[in-house]
Amino acid sequence: MKFIKDLKRTHYASDLADSQDGEVVLYGWVHTRRDHGNLIFIDLRDRTGLLQVVIDPNLPEQSSSKNFRNEFVVAIQGKIRPRPVGMVNAKIATGKIEIQCTRCEVLSESQALPFQIDDESVSESLRLKYRYLDLRSPRLQKNLFLRHEVVQLVRKYFSSQKFIEVETPILYKSTPEGARDYLVPSRVNLGQFYALPQSPQTLKQLLMIAGYDRYFQIARCFRDEDLRADRQPEFSQIDVEMSFIDQEDIMQVNESLLALIWKQIKGVDIPKLQRMTFQEAMDSYGNDKPDLRFEMKIQDLAPVLKNSGFKVFDDVMARQGVVRGIAAPGGASFSRGQLDKLTDLAKKSGAKGLVWIKNEGGTLTSSVSKFFTPEKLAEVFAKAQGKTGDCVLIVADDYDPACQSLSTLRMHLGRELNLIDTTKDKFLWVIDFPLLEYSPDEKRWVARHHPFTSPQDQFADDLLSNNESQFSGLLAKAYDLVCNGYEIAGGSVRIYRNEIQQAMFKVLGMSEEETQKKFGYFLEALKYGTPPHGGIAWGVDRLVMLLAGTDAIRDVIAFPKTAKATCLMSEAPSEVRREQLTEVGIKLSPQAEKALDRE
Ligand code: AMO
Ligand code: AMP
Repeated sequence: MKFIKDLKRTHYASDLADSQDGEVVLYGWVHTRRDHGNLIFIDLRDRTGLLQVVIDPNLPEQSSSKNFRNEFVVAIQGKIRPRPVGMVNAKIATGKIEIQCTRCEVLSESQALPFQIDDESVSESLRLKYRYLDLRSPRLQKNLFLRHEVVQLVRKYFSSQKFIEVETPILYKSTPEGARDYLVPSRVNLGQFYALPQSPQTLKQLLMIAGYDRYFQIARCFRDEDLRADRQPEFSQIDVEMSFIDQEDIMQVNESLLALIWKQIKGVDIPKLQRMTFQEAMDSYGNDKPDLRFEMKIQDLAPVLKNSGFKVFDDVMARQGVVRGIAAPGGASFSRGQLDKLTDLAKKSGAKGLVWIKNEGGTLTSSVSKFFTPEKLAEVFAKAQGKTGDCVLIVADDYDPACQSLSTLRMHLGRELNLIDTTKDKFLWVIDFPLLEYSPDEKRWVARHHPFTSPQDQFADDLLSNNESQFSGLLAKAYDLVCNGYEIAGGSVRIYRNEIQQAMFKVLGMSEEETQKKFGYFLEALKYGTPPHGGIAWGVDRLVMLLAGTDAIRDVIAFPKTAKATCLMSEAPSEVRREQLTEVGIKLSPQAEKALDRE
């Protein structure tokens, strides 16, 4: 009888949690090993967890256990038995039992690991270098199993709703979603490049034109953009598109999926989702993905500050800026140092300064007390919803930097002051997004969602007539699904008329020629019977991150990249042979050569 050939695995470790007796064959890794001379105890680990095995190394069929070391791959045959009284380990699922070994074998040896599995004090870069070892940890295993479960749920749900899963190409043409493209040179078409899709946007719309009516895909997307804890250069979307629907239908279908996921995974019933306009989100929370787990809304202080005599505020209001503030509960106890730090944070996120007003037991103190009467200070403090014991923080600036800095302060204080109820998830739909926004860098209008998003019906004429004076006020049929301050899904109803799509490209500053080159095929397709359609895409990584209760998507991705878009394990991206470059018609620039020399 040989392991693997004759002795097949009968169980995974955790399958046995409730067993009392029986014969088993197990395969796994030696997690820990305690050698008592005449008995060896090991914790055997497989992908389900740990199980204690008791081995007698003096018996011939178990003598290989003398060589067992941590992380060796071993095969165990044995009998289940209850642990002796007093030896039960409540910390592991299989803690009530152990396996009395009858036979064992080393299948594969392991060198000493560069770090202990599950030692959280190890630097992340070392763990990323040895990602396959870190993936052995229960923490990451749990996350990947969770991800699998979510994706299966999604597939089942959409299939049951008559959606079909269709794969779309990775080697494709630019699909703009606001990031830079990853380009792939073509050997057989020298000088030409594919762009990896930033999303399957045009492709899923083409599937609607093709009549497939309801599509979904777990789609890989690629975006060359600044990375953060919730942004990877390649990531996955649950990509969805439907025909003959309006915004409401898409929101309903996806809200039901959200409810299903939270019920199945967390056992929680989600109430019907709140909806908030983009404008309200910006006004009250300073960003378009508000974290509603705590209050601390931004208040408009302009009504009580007209002609206050404080030059900083008066000047800002004179140039149509805003003066807004938030009240930090209990902030009256902030020290000078803490206030300086908050001021630095506000400045780093775009504010020019920060005014504070504290209320200590009814007495107001402020960084600007010399500019205001006590009555005025009290009025401003109250308008900002400050209560006794609070500290009101005020920013005067143009709308966007004021929103940004107050949003940063709000989130920072929410965490610092423990205002966030982490036991509950708070969802909302953000709707009525602007269609366009002006990019000062590019000196042109850009699509806020993407160029295929439909304006709300009443604004279609402004788009068709290229009426720039109206652009900033045009609203889109676009919506985002937000959870705890993260955008987990975003979508829109699409433009389905060729002339509106053409007008859109024109508004975005694209010449006829450029439009034809980039999207000629798509505009052509719109001419052949395009159904009204729309859709959405969920960020799978963000969704699973929230379900897993972590704050970085790399925790739910098997092989993630660093903030510099590198893979520490494989050392991608890496240099290639000069011949390979020549083959695809590429010559490195002097800057690239220099960068390589520095490596
Ligand atoms: P959007 O660009 O809003 O829309 O992307 C949809 C969702 O994808 C997730 N996401 C990301 N996740 C990880 N890393 C990234 N770099 C990253 N970028 C985006 C977010 C986001 O909500 N084609 C449209 C969808 C549509 O209109 O149907 C699109 O891609 O969770
Ligand atoms: P100054 O008159 O520039 O010394 O500013 C007086 C106070 O107002 C200081 O506490 C500054 O931090 C604050 N301040 C300056 N500019 C702004 C602004 N745009 N918004 C809020 N506070 C500001």
